[in-house]
Amino acid sequence: NGDVGYSSAPSNIALLKYWGKETNREQIPLNSSLSYTIGGFRSFTKVTALGRFLPNEEKTVSYFKNKLFLDENSKENKLPPKMDRLIRSILFPFADEISIEINSHNNFPTACGIASSASGYAALVGAIADLLQLEKHFSKLELLFWLSEWARLGSGSATRSVFTSEEESFVKWEAPILNKNKFTNTSSVKFHPKWRQLQHSVFILNSSEKQTSSSDGHKYAQTSPLNIIRTSGISHKLKLLQKALLEFDFECVQSLTEEDAYSMHAVMQTGEPKACYLTNEVSNLIGLFIQLRNEYDVKAFWTLDAGPNIHILYMPEAKIMLQKFHEISQTMIEREIKILTNSFNEGLL
Ligand code: DP6
Repeated sequence: NGDVGYSSAPSNIALLKYWGKETNREQIPLNSSLSYTIGGFRSFTKVTALGRFLPNEEKTVSYFKNKLFLDENSKENKLPPKMDRLIRSILFPFADEISIEINSHNNFPTACGIASSASGYAALVGAIADLLQLEKHFSKLELLFWLSEWARLGSGSATRSVFTSEEESFVKWEAPILNKNKFTNTSSVKFHPKWRQLQHSVFILNSSEKQTSSSDGHKYAQTSPLNIIRTSGISHKLKLLQKALLEFDFECVQSLTEEDAYSMHAVMQTGEPKACYLTNEVSNLIGLFIQLRNEYDVKAFWTLDAGPNIHILYMPEAKIMLQKFHEISQTMIEREIKILTNSFNEGLL
C-alpha cells in the first residue's frame, strides 16, 4: 500500500577486485571490477514509512529505529553519516518529509566474517525504491542504473549486488574513463551455460576476527608503488575474463582471478600503512589447495578479500578434493574451519 517496502539482495565475491577509490568522491573506483553473485548469502530489508509524506515543508528525515547491521557502532535513532546521506539523496527527490523505520537481517551468520555491506546496502536501496514505488517512475533499466548508483554511495561493492537474476550471476562495475564523470556503469556479463554448475564455498579460518573496514584500505592503495601497475592492467584483464566466461575457459578464469587476488594483496602489503591479510596461515593453506588441485586434477580456484576467509569456486567434481583440503587444513592450523556453501542459482530468481 505504499507504506512498506521490502527487498533482498545477494552478496558477491569479486574475481577482479575493486581496490582503491578516488579521494573525496563517494566510491568512484580506481579500476573496474567483476564479481560472481553469491545468491545464497542475502540481506533482507524492510523499510516502513512512519510519517506522512509532507510536501513543501522543510526537508528533514528522522529515524525511529535502526536495526541495520551495517555499522554495529550505530546507536538507535542515529544512522552512520554515509547511510544518512544515502537515504536523503534517494528520498528527497520524491518526498519532502518522511520518517522511516529500517529492519534488516542476513541469512548468513553475522559473526562469520563475511562482509555484509554489499548485500546490506543493495537491499536497503531496493527496499526504499519499493516503498516509494519507483518502478512507476522509471523503466526497469533506469531503475537498475539508479539502484546501483545509490548502492555505490553506501559501499562500492554493493553496486554489484543490485543484480538478482540467474542471468546476472557475473556482474561488472566499470570505473569512469574520464575522471570527472559522476556516474559509474554496472552491468551483467554474458557467460557460458556450463558455469551454472559452479559451486561456491567459503572456508572461515577465523570467525571471531572482525573484518577491518575496507574503506580505510582503499585510501592507502595509491601509496603503493605497485598500485599503478595493477590498475593499468585491469582493463585488458577484464576483456580476457569476459571472453573466458563466455567460452568456459576455466583455466583462464582461474589464473586471472588468483593473479588479481595476489596483486591486490601485494598492493595492500606495500602501501602505507601496510595491511597484511595474506598471512602465513592463509598462504600455507593456499599452497595446500594448489597442491591438491594438481593432484586431483579438478577445476577449482581460490580468491581472498580483505579478511581471513578463503573463497573457493569449483565444479562439482572438485568436492572430494575439497573434503581432503578441509581435513588437512584443520590439522595444519589445529582448529576447526567452518565451511558455508552455495550452489550456482541458489537464492536467485
Ligand atoms: C576487497 O565495497 O567494502 O572486497 O566502497 O569503502 O564500502 P567501500 O569498500 P568495499 O570494498 C570491497 C573490497 C574488496 C574487493 C571487492 O569486493 O571488489
